[in-house]
Amino acid sequence: MAPLKVIIDTDPGPDDALAILLALAERERLEVLGLTTVAGNVAVDLTTINALRMVELAKRPDVPVFRGASRPLLRKLVTAEFINGPDGLEGAGLPLPQLEPQAPHAVEFLLRMLRAAPDRSITLCPLGPLTNIALAFAQEPGLAAKVERIVLMGGARDLGNVTPAAEFNVFVDPHAAAIVFGLGVPIVMFGLHATHHAMATPERVARIAALGTGVARAVDGMLSRPRPGGVARFGVPGHPMHDPCVVAFLLWPELFQGRDCHVAVETAGEATVGRTVIDWWGQKMLAPNAHVIERIDAETLFNRLPQSLAKLG
Ligand code: RIB
Ligand code: CA
Repeated sequence: MAPLKVIIDTDPGPDDALAILLALAERERLEVLGLTTVAGNVAVDLTTINALRMVELAKRPDVPVFRGASRPLLRKLVTAEFINGPDGLEGAGLPLPQLEPQAPHAVEFLLRMLRAAPDRSITLCPLGPLTNIALAFAQEPGLAAKVERIVLMGGARDLGNVTPAAEFNVFVDPHAAAIVFGLGVPIVMFGLHATHHAMATPERVARIAALGTGVARAVDGMLSRPRPGGVARFGVPGHPMHDPCVVAFLLWPELFQGRDCHVAVETAGEATVGRTVIDWWGQKMLAPNAHVIERIDAETLFNRLPQSLAKLG
C-alpha cells in the first residue's frame, strides 16, 4: 500500500518530538511531506529549532521544516515553558540544528501542497494550536476537498490541563480550533481524556533508552525528568504522550476506540474559553463533526514505539 501523505503541524515540546520521531521512523508507511511549526509550548522560533533538531536527530534532512504562526488569531499567546523548560525540550541535550527552515511561510507551504494534491489525498496532523491550519483554510476554503483526514491532538471531554475547562492547544487559539472543527473535513480528535492514558512511565521510557542510540538518549533525557504536577495529577509517574497518539493512530488504528460526536469550541466564555464541548451522548442531535477517541491500548503502543524508533538507528 502506498505510504500516507502527511503534513505534521507542530509546537515541539517533548511529546511532539516523540511523535515526529515515530513518523520519520516509519517512512515505509508515512510520507512526511513537511513539518510546519506554530507557537505553543514555546515561541515559534524555538518550536522551529526543535522541529529541525528532530529532523537532524532522525537523520531525515529530506523532510522540510516551515516556520509558521507566531501568535494565535485573536488571543494573546500563552506558552508552557514551566512544563518543558525555556527551550521546550528540557533534557534532550541536543545542539542547535545546522539545518534552516525552508521558505515560504508554513501557511503558504500548506496551501501549495494542497493546491497540487488530488482530492482527499493529504492527512494533516496538527499537534499544537490550530492557527496555521485555520489560516490556510480561511485563505482558500476550497482546499478542504484535498484533505483526506485531520488527525489532531487537542481538546478534552473531561477536565482541561491549562484551565479546568480547556486543553492547552485549543485554549491557546480557540478561534482557530472553531474554524477547523467547522471545516466539514473528517476529523479524528485526540483529547486529554484519551491521551492521559498514554503515559510514558519510567518503565516504558527505560524500554526506549535500552536501544542505546542517539535518538534513545534524547528521548530518555526528555522523558526521565520529573514532570511538574506528576503523580498527583496523572496517578502514575511520567509524562503523558499526547501527540504520539496521533501518529500511532495512522500506523495502528486498531489500538484506538472512539465514537462520532459533534464538537463545539467555546471562544468567548470567561471561565470556559477553549472548552471543546463534546456531545458524547448526542443530546443536541447535531451532525457529528469528529471521531472522538476514548480508549487507547497504551501497553501495545509503548511496546511498538521502541521497535519503530530502532529503525532510526
Ligand atoms: O495539551 C497537550 C498539548 O499541548 C500537546 O500537544 C502538547 O505538546 C502541547 O502542545
Ligand atoms: Ca504539541
